[in-house]
Amino acid sequence: RICGAVEMERTLAMIKPDGLSGNYTKEIKEAILESGFDIIEEAVVLLDAERASLFYAEHAARSFFDSLVKYMTSGPVHAMVLERYDAITHWRALIGPTDARKAKTSHPNSIRAMCGLDSEKNCVHGSDSLQSAAREISFFFKDVKSETVEHDEL
Ligand code: PPS
Repeated sequence: RICGAVEMERTLAMIKPDGLSGNYTKEIKEAILESGFDIIEEAVVLLDAERASLFYAEHAARSFFDSLVKYMTSGPVHAMVLERYDAITHWRALIGPTDARKAKTSHPNSIRAMCGLDSEKNCVHGSDSLQSAAREISFFFKDVKSETVEHDEL
């Protein structure tokens, strides 16, 4: 008998080049698992300028775009599909604000406070909506579904 349905959600998490070069992967993955996420899929990849520009296409007109693309191609990134209830919101809360300097004062327990430096070198990325999660998951993992519904049978 199905007594309740828990809607699981997926999001795209990415450890950026400064996170990898700073050897923060282990600590970040521990924080992910302690926060109740399952890691569905993961891959370490080196983006080229074309791929990085495509990933950040919505920011193409911003003054920081060229710098962002240069940074995101400076070393490998570690992409992960995370799953839990309300994954998008929970992952964004766990990483903290975009500017890691702000994170250090206002969200000292966040991942960006732990390993980020500023608004560019901010260690990690998280999808900001269901639509961007779907786009970003398929960007890295063509065959992974972005949505799932799990039924709790009691
Ligand atoms: S927005 O639109 O202003 O809210 O942008 P934001 O979400 O803060 O940032 C979008 C992504 O751009 C990166 N970013 C920067 N890169 C380089 N230099 C500067 N000054 C800068 N400001 C923001 C920021 O790290 C975000 O990357 P993601 O991977 O989406 O977190």
